[in-house]
Amino acid sequence: MPLVALRAMLDHAAENDYGIAALNVNNMEQIQAIMIAAQETDSPVIIQASRGARQYSNDAYLRHLMMAAVELNPTLPVVMHLDHGNVPETCFSAIEQNFTSVMMDGSLEADGKTPSSYEYNMKVTKQVVDAAHAKGVSVEGEIGALGGIEDGHGAGLSEEEAKEHLTDPEQAEQFVKDTGLDALAVAIGTSHGAYKFAKKPTGDVLRMELIEEIHRRLPDTHIVMHGSSSVPQELQDIINAYGGNLKQTYGVPVEEIQRGIKHGVRKINVDTDSRLAMTGAIRKIFAESPEQFDPRKYLGPARDAMVEVCKARMIAFGQAGNAGKIPTKTCAEMVDFYKS
Ligand code: G3H
Ligand code: 13P
Ligand code: ZN
Repeated sequence: MPLVALRAMLDHAAENDYGIAALNVNNMEQIQAIMIAAQETDSPVIIQASRGARQYSNDAYLRHLMMAAVELNPTLPVVMHLDHGNVPETCFSAIEQNFTSVMMDGSLEADGKTPSSYEYNMKVTKQVVDAAHAKGVSVEGEIGALGGIEDGHGAGLSEEEAKEHLTDPEQAEQFVKDTGLDALAVAIGTSHGAYKFAKKPTGDVLRMELIEEIHRRLPDTHIVMHGSSSVPQELQDIINAYGGNLKQTYGVPVEEIQRGIKHGVRKINVDTDSRLAMTGAIRKIFAESPEQFDPRKYLGPARDAMVEVCKARMIAFGQAGNAGKIPTKTCAEMVDFYKS
């Protein structure tokens, strides 16, 4: 099966009340981990690469690794998505590199740090929607702005700033009308990276009721939750048990994501949990077998640890068992859908 468009996948998720994990990758082992987890759970796949990932691994490597994933897993529909495109040109270059879905994150200016105006966001998102839809490529936009885009350290919004930029449901409604996007990322109190909450989040900091209100106003729009790693205690403990130094932290409980899925959340972005799982496994090998120097001896267990995280999320979000049920559409097939 060739790479498929995000829109058709999310439409099926909406019709059947489930969510799909969108998992970030930078290298071969991470792509393999996601595909193994998807095979074992019969799940549709959304693999996403940030600007940083594209720079780190190079578009050509990413493109060919993704094609290998597709070739080796012909029964699984796979979306290749650009995460947090900062300007339209980043989205256009991703489309040229076979991405079947792009995020134009116009909630921040081109620097990826400064919150933008509504007019700017609307203009750049609409520009990407027009160009992408002409090629059948799906588009995610964002209204409101999240904190901690680079692991909460130095870039992105502070906690206070992030609070000021939670999504306004009325503005979200206008944004969808103005842009015609396929999926809408919203800011509800989550942030990127490991340091999201100082204690298990309650409704005053993780504002799930905003999702309910946005879904009430926009029942046909696919909602995207960013910063959705759960930062499991056991993964923090493994890292710290083997020489790591993570401060105690709390992520987004899986039950809260499941609540979101009941109210229109269809794409759930997870990166940090995979990073934690891989790092814990590598630290353990280094601590227990310091004589090892073959990268396969630690990257293999790191991949295995990421498989477990991915499988757990695929099952919890309800995408497991749906790979073969999705009426998959390539971008070429989506062109007419957008014309009509
Ligand atoms: O949105 C953030 C993702 O976790 C990607 O992070 O920019 O460090 O690749 P990155
Ligand atoms: P986490 O840092 O919570 O994994 O979020 C990832 C994300 O939102 C990528 O866009
Ligand atoms: Zn994000």
